[in-house]
Amino acid sequence: MKRRLILISLTALSGAPVLAAGTGFNAPEGKVLWGRTGQEGRLCADCHGSELKAPGKHVKTGKRIEAMAPSVNPGRLADLKKVEKWFKRNCEWTWGRECTAQEKGHLLAWLSQQ
Ligand code: HEC
Repeated sequence: MKRRLILISLTALSGAPVLAAGTGFNAPEGKVLWGRTGQEGRLCADCHGSELKAPGKHVKTGKRIEAMAPSVNPGRLADLKKVEKWFKRNCEWTWGRECTAQEKGHLLAWLSQQ
């Protein structure tokens, strides 16, 4: 089930055929990207926290952000529109640019296993 969701998401994100898209992404690469330092030393973990199964805290507003791991937060990564919206916003804030389809694929591959 989860696997199917990822494949569908990746297809929509990259515009590539399902299988071609699915084979190019891997979770270890996603983990590396998640930890990559962006502009002004920013990290995804600045808001989402270093423990994906625990809630995070928005670095600017201090607002609670529910856990990123679908294993403890089943609503995670379930809505492609939401995923796309936040990828755009968060990649721009953290890395100073949009994530590529490749980066999003790796990140989703990793996040969806948490
Ligand atoms: C400035 C704070 C902040 C940073 C930094 C941040 N995020 Fe987020 N992110 C949020 C907020 C707020 C939400 C939406 C609230 C929620 O989903 O709980 C969110 C949601 C998401 C979602 C959607 C999850 C879903 O269930 O659909 C993804 C994917 C995501 N972030 C990925 C990233 C990645 C990748 C990075 C690093 C490149 C990152 N975020 C950095 C604040 C941040």
